Amino acid sequence: MSRRIHPAVVGAQPFQLTARETFDGPIFETAEGKHRLEAALSRYPTKQAALLPMLGFVQSVKGWIEPADMVEVAEALDLTPAYVHSIATFYTMYSKHPVGRHFVQVCTNISCHLNRAEEVLRGFLAETGTREGEISEDGEFTVIEAECLGACGFATVVQVNDRYLEDVTPERVPEIVAGLRGSRDGGSEAGDGA
Ligand code: FES
Repeated sequence: MSRRIHPAVVGAQPFQLTARETFDGPIFETAEGKHRLEAALSRYPTKQAALLPMLGFVQSVKGWIEPADMVEVAEALDLTPAYVHSIATFYTMYSKHPVGRHFVQVCTNISCHLNRAEEVLRGFLAETGTREGEISEDGEFTVIEAECLGACGFATVVQVNDRYLEDVTPERVPEIVAGLRGSRDGGSEAGDGA
């Protein structure tokens, strides 16, 4: 059977790993943080232009962006915390609340709606034992409903962290959840039809 994961996937990030590190201190004082900041600053004409990539980096490490992170990003880029907050809260792709290790977003817009997306959503909630937006007791899952994920030809589409699962049916949900539970990298064993 052919794989149904969108090809534009990226490697696992720390918060997706079972044995992930914890970041207690300032994120841009870590070796990786310094490297990512320097790389971003060398790529853009102004520090402000590096804001979205840096917010994305913070989220990739921690899984979400909290107010202290926004202050840190602001200091790193010579911006005001209020400006960083305004950008982080404008884009829904940035989580402003903690999420489980697998952040599952089920599209229920029109194409997916016509392909049983509501059943898929209910299936994920039932399999993970959560209500929308909650973190499961084991810390593994948060499931939410999402607006169009831009892959309407492959309905129903489900995004797990930064990975797309396509043509998801309610019948596949238990297999997908079981695969995620057993995975180390947040999605490689996501019952992706391989
Ligand atoms: Fe679901 Fe567009 S309607 S991806």
